[in-house]
Amino acid sequence: TGPATVSPTGQPTGADQARMAQSGSYLTNAQGTRLYDTDHSLKAGPRGPVLLQDHHLREKVMHFDHERIPERVVHARGAGAHGVFRSYGTAAGVTKAAFLAEDVETPVFVRFSTVLGSRGSADTVRDTRGFATKFYTSEGVFDLVGNNIPVFFIQDAIKFPDIIHAGKPHPDREIPQAQSAHDTFWDFVTLHTEATHHTLWNMSDRGIPRSYRTMEGFGVHTFRLVNAAGETTLVKFHWKPKLGVHSLVWEEAQIINGVDPDFHRRDLADAIEAGAYPQWEFGIQTFPDTPDQTFEGIDLLDPTNIVPEELAPVQPIGLLTLNRNPSNFFAETEQVAFHVGHLVPGIDITDDPLLAGRLFSYLDTQITRLGGPNFPQLPINRPHAPVNDMLRDGMHQTAVHRGTAPYRPNSLDGGCPFTPGAGLDGAYVETPVRIPEATKVREAPESFDDHFSQPRRFWLSMSAPEREHIIGAYTFELGKCYEQAIRERALQVLANIDPELCAGVAAGLGLPAPEPSVPLADVEPSPALSQVGH
Ligand code: HEM
Repeated sequence: TGPATVSPTGQPTGADQARMAQSGSYLTNAQGTRLYDTDHSLKAGPRGPVLLQDHHLREKVMHFDHERIPERVVHARGAGAHGVFRSYGTAAGVTKAAFLAEDVETPVFVRFSTVLGSRGSADTVRDTRGFATKFYTSEGVFDLVGNNIPVFFIQDAIKFPDIIHAGKPHPDREIPQAQSAHDTFWDFVTLHTEATHHTLWNMSDRGIPRSYRTMEGFGVHTFRLVNAAGETTLVKFHWKPKLGVHSLVWEEAQIINGVDPDFHRRDLADAIEAGAYPQWEFGIQTFPDTPDQTFEGIDLLDPTNIVPEELAPVQPIGLLTLNRNPSNFFAETEQVAFHVGHLVPGIDITDDPLLAGRLFSYLDTQITRLGGPNFPQLPINRPHAPVNDMLRDGMHQTAVHRGTAPYRPNSLDGGCPFTPGAGLDGAYVETPVRIPEATKVREAPESFDDHFSQPRRFWLSMSAPEREHIIGAYTFELGKCYEQAIRERALQVLANIDPELCAGVAAGLGLPAPEPSVPLADVEPSPALSQVGH
């Protein structure tokens, strides 16, 4: 029957005309009435009072007054680009997702971001970077909302407001903008030792990428793929930059922040404009979907864990090429709305408790940020697949829906588009995962308790210069803390990772190095974690 909505592009031509008014032969007001002057308000005589009846004045100033929308509550500063994703077909055995079949081209929009700074903050601060990709597939939108760091600070989304409150500028002075170098951040990450792994990555060179073009990207959580036969595989998603992984050194990062705070967004836009299109290979690590959802003793539902690539190699499944800059930052980069719940058949979620909270949070925040529930109709968010939903009306509705019976079944608008239980071909069907019998509890599993062995593996995998940079970063950041107790607690955390790391930072801070309070984990290095050789 086709889509029941009328596309906003079917609006009268007046709307298109208004959008390019400044290059037209004359200006109009928002109602299409031609203007003869936009530089003088209507007055009672050239030196007289301005008249309230001047609609053009009121409309112009009113619209300007409302130009700003709230910035994202996190990841406020970002830069985006359009591109194309071409799949190799190598994932076709594990997922039925149409865009991952052999040689399928899918348009994409990617937004890179810092997490903690405001919209106007500098690019080369030490922080995690967002790497969010919207695939406009033939089966609907799939969003992979990832970061350049493969683990997260917390294991349960209920703590997300807390870590962000700790990481955002102090409520009294509204400083600093950067992720670290402040007491609340270090207070949180030393009191919540599950944050140790992510913090260590941040203090490594990964926290100051050279360019968005030279960052890896990670889906972080474990996802579940489903193939045509209904078989499931657990996976972690990876983006590998064709240019390799490269970072700044701290001194460079600081100078660039002063000289060119737009360094990363300029680099991305300039490269694309020059035809040096950045590329990433998309890859998956695959794990058997066993009832315990662990791999080699690693809990796959714990987002503070990675699975070393030596244990589960990243298998390439496609190529992303960014080849077009946005023509309007607000319409595209600012209004784009990603969501971890935007899934397509063949890709499903797991019970990672961090992911569960994200499924709620993004849609919720976007209702405020984008002014109501109809932001999927904005051009940048519109699926390229046909839309035939029963969502109606609401703020900023631009579709003109036909028919009289937005409910099913109905006997007025040609019945209903599907019969429940039949015709599921192409539909998104949740995987029938068995939920073991359980008791309602507010607690984490014991398998979430090991907070130091993965950080230790990361440290042991670093080359000598990378270790030096990490010690330098901790020393600088902790040296900025006002509270001595926080510095001391941080040293205890570092002692539990590695004595050399702890001793280096303690020496820099002029404090004694404590002994480890837990036995040091017996782990092998993972050479793939080092940037050397990427
Ligand atoms: C925004 C990644 C955890 C809430 C973002 C963005 C990225 C991202 C890349 C920016 C999207 C864009 O460019 O528009 C991640 C990753 C996480 C994580 C990789 C952990 C694995 C969480 C959690 C919550 C959360 C646990 C809340 C419970 C938000 C919100 C936004 C956001 C509210 C702003 C969205 C918007 O305004 O459109 N996140 N995030 N995130 N994230 Fe997360």
